[in-house]
Amino acid sequence: MTKKQLQKSVDYLISKGFDSPEVGVVLGTGLGKLVEEIKNPIVAHYHNIPSFPLATVEFHSGKLIFGELEGKKVVVMEGRFHLYEGYSLMDVTYPIRVMHQLGIKSLFISNAAGAINLNYKKGDMMLLEDHINLQGNSPLAFKNVGEFGDRFVDMSEPYDMEMCKKLKTIAQKENISLKSGVYASVVGPQLETKAEYRMLKILGADAVGMSTVPEVIVANHLRLPIIAVSVLTDECNPDNLQQVDIQEIIEIAGKTEPKMIKLFKELIKVL
Ligand code: HPA
Repeated sequence: MTKKQLQKSVDYLISKGFDSPEVGVVLGTGLGKLVEEIKNPIVAHYHNIPSFPLATVEFHSGKLIFGELEGKKVVVMEGRFHLYEGYSLMDVTYPIRVMHQLGIKSLFISNAAGAINLNYKKGDMMLLEDHINLQGNSPLAFKNVGEFGDRFVDMSEPYDMEMCKKLKTIAQKENISLKSGVYASVVGPQLETKAEYRMLKILGADAVGMSTVPEVIVANHLRLPIIAVSVLTDECNPDNLQQVDIQEIIEIAGKTEPKMIKLFKELIKVL
């Protein structure tokens, strides 16, 4: 990755009308409906953005949407890149750098995850307060990282506690249940074995998924305040493990989505 490449993507988006968004949003699996609420949308398909990571077949629908939400200018990523699709961690996090260069001042991330903490149930939402990177690599492990910021990035508080506090207050006010905890990221795409779920629990994870952590690391590299919420789509009980049905995961994410949208919209209002 070079600064020139990044600037090419940004110049294209600015020429399309992506004018100084304040907030960036990454939508997770089954969580695309927020897009329908964006006023005066401008859409840029990933495959048309210069220097953007190459799209795979599943990815034909990946796009960045610029517009207004609750009176604020936002840029929303519908469809993200995953390590399990064969992308590098630099590719996975490239759009975060683009949104930052466009001018966003904060970033919201959502994802679908499995519940390791068995007090948490299918359909619950969990605010990420910390994470464990189990993807075996870092999006900052490249030669010229120094051109983009520090190499040794502090991760003592990866999620913006002020925004987390605001979101908890909003959830309480709206009577929406919001758990909180530690998210562990794995590569996937296979789901975990019983032994792996036991291990994740011992490690201190409350939820497990295949995304988000690389994006959070890069947001910290960019000193971009970030908040992330998981929709828990299945219960990972090693002593009574059910076969995972990806269709069910998407369905449960979709059912929980209106609550997630409500939380994000109310947070945008009070930023
Ligand atoms: N692991 C287990 N269950 C899940 C995951 C995962 O990565 N994502 C959504 N449900």
